[in-house]
Amino acid sequence: MSLSTAAGAQFGVQQLQDLEPSAEEFEAAVIAGLGSARKTLPCKFFYDAAGSVLFDRICKLPEYYLTRTELRILEDRAPDIAALLGPQASLIEFGAGSASKVGLILSQLDRPYSYVPVDISRKHLLAGAAGVARAFPGLRIAPVCADYTQNFALPVAASGTPGALAGFFPGSTIGNFTHAEAAVFLARTRHILRSGAVMIVGVDLRKDERVLNAAYDDAAGVTADFNLNLLRRINRELGGNFRVGQFEHSARWNETESRVEMHLVSRAAQTVRIGEAQFQFAEGESIHTENSYKYSIESFQALARDAGYEPVTCWTDERALFSVHALRVP
Ligand code: AVI
Repeated sequence: MSLSTAAGAQFGVQQLQDLEPSAEEFEAAVIAGLGSARKTLPCKFFYDAAGSVLFDRICKLPEYYLTRTELRILEDRAPDIAALLGPQASLIEFGAGSASKVGLILSQLDRPYSYVPVDISRKHLLAGAAGVARAFPGLRIAPVCADYTQNFALPVAASGTPGALAGFFPGSTIGNFTHAEAAVFLARTRHILRSGAVMIVGVDLRKDERVLNAAYDDAAGVTADFNLNLLRRINRELGGNFRVGQFEHSARWNETESRVEMHLVSRAAQTVRIGEAQFQFAEGESIHTENSYKYSIESFQALARDAGYEPVTCWTDERALFSVHALRVP
């Protein structure tokens, strides 16, 4: 790997574009979320260094079928994806995390030109980029540390690609957006990519609620720890005084909304201080921390059409647990 910050570096990991959200942004979101009538915290703040490690552990849990099922689909379909992208393509991965899936596609591409991992957690992003650089020494890798729902400039390594620009958004992270947010996100990626570009999106499917509830409330308690880590992060970074043991993880399937909701439920009436601000909790009151929407193939394709994409094809596993969609920018 050539880890270089020189703008002229050709291959390996190139200069980081650093737009990591500031502490002020985190604080403002926390104060607003806990101050609202129904308390919420944005799930994008799960992913500090500790949260990213916990999320990687979730991905290996027996109950969390999403990751291994998507990996199997990608393994089987990587040659089809490579054929759609063509030679010398550049791949932009939104929410790359530890970049554990992209190798399946890169290894099938004909002379891939560049890879742009975009992630909110800088440490994880750089470790993932370094791993890809080791596996693909001839590739230009241009990491961007950013909230990928916001605008960022496409690095030259991608904008100057001689082949196609392609987007990659695996893991059903799109399910963590409301439908309106998902449509806005997809429309934004359409503008980042070019006309004719392909966007590959992993989308979890609706299924038996027992399977869904177990996936978000595993027996080993890793998902509970992941959820509670948000309170530890607030204590660490914003001077909060959450007594983390006084909150309980809860995961609930909401049939009407077609989503799994995660909450942190107060075990007692209590007051929590964050800096100068104070928040009262009744016993049993919850902080809604995450939604994980589940789609049918048709409902996701309809959403993609609304966002201005043309669905090209969709692959799924034999049990129809998970889907991988190929969409095209018209
Ligand atoms: C990142 N995202 C797709 C995960 C999900 O399944 O919604 C986050 C997660 N939350 C609890 N477990 C995993």
